[in-house]
Amino acid sequence: MEIKNVAIIGSGIMGSGVAQVSAVAGYNVVLQDINDQALERAKSGIKFSLEKLAAKDKIAPAQVDAALAGIKFTADLGQAVENADLVIEAVFENLEIKQELFKKLETLSRPDAILASNTSALPITEIASVTGRGEKIIGIHFMNPVPLMKGVEIIRGQLTSDDTFETAMAYLRKIGKEPIEAVDYAGFIVSRLLDVLMNEAVKMVQEGNRPEDIDTAMKLCAGHPMGPCQLLDLVGAEIAMHGMETMARDFGGQYKPHPMLRKRVLAGLLGKKTGRGFYDYRK
Ligand code: CAA
Repeated sequence: MEIKNVAIIGSGIMGSGVAQVSAVAGYNVVLQDINDQALERAKSGIKFSLEKLAAKDKIAPAQVDAALAGIKFTADLGQAVENADLVIEAVFENLEIKQELFKKLETLSRPDAILASNTSALPITEIASVTGRGEKIIGIHFMNPVPLMKGVEIIRGQLTSDDTFETAMAYLRKIGKEPIEAVDYAGFIVSRLLDVLMNEAVKMVQEGNRPEDIDTAMKLCAGHPMGPCQLLDLVGAEIAMHGMETMARDFGGQYKPHPMLRKRVLAGLLGKKTGRGFYDYRK
């Protein structure tokens, strides 16, 4: 099956990024969210990112307008998915919400459409279990920031067909990403390792280390592109906490999120998206 029309459900940072890179690669894209305000925010975020990439010669200037014109924005889920060959879900990290959405997608989309989840930690088989369409369901886990990160995890659920897998691989290659296959367990490869790293950094801050020292140490001593406190601010503390909770549920207590991570989430110190995390982004 060849993908032409891609629908993305959820217009947050991840969904917007996926819409952007799909449109730049020439796909017809529909980006759906529940209200026009969220869609307006997504549109200006995509424009900002495209213009930045064009200014750095990473895309041609003509691609800015062409990509924006290639994305339809809608609040209507049925309209978004009716013609889609591939639907990518990037909604809130919550199993019940995702399962409810997949039930709807099963009835609203064409029977031959592939339904993908961008979950960072929830097993794909668990999301697919509420549908009768497991062979068409797959995990496509993009990394933040989507336009800049080369790697994408691809995860087969228990019933995912070879055809679904190969079609998703071809889509990822066409958008310029390098797919890496990960086994379908909580956290896959990337969140399993990074969430633990970020959770440990939170613990070390509570023990008296300064966030800037942890970040500098990991950049200069371990060659990481950004330190774990900066990374937590980028991905969002609630995403790391959810990943840890999912892994604790499936693998045991050693993955329990540190109480300080939970407290930071409750206090709204999520990072860039709320303007405050370990660092202040409100200026
Ligand atoms: N679109 C366009 N430009 C963007 C952008 C976007 N979406 N996001 C950031 N930029 C821009 C910045 O605004 C900045 O621009 P200026 O140069 O004008 O200030 C520039 O990119 C920064 O790029 P640099 O090349 O100067 O910086 P860098 O070399 O540090 O690269 C990075 C940035 C690629 C993000 C790098 O720091 C990196 O690889 N960090 C690690 C990110 C990571 O680990 N991501 C995975 C997180 S885990 C995840 O996402 C999964 C999950 O589910 C939790």
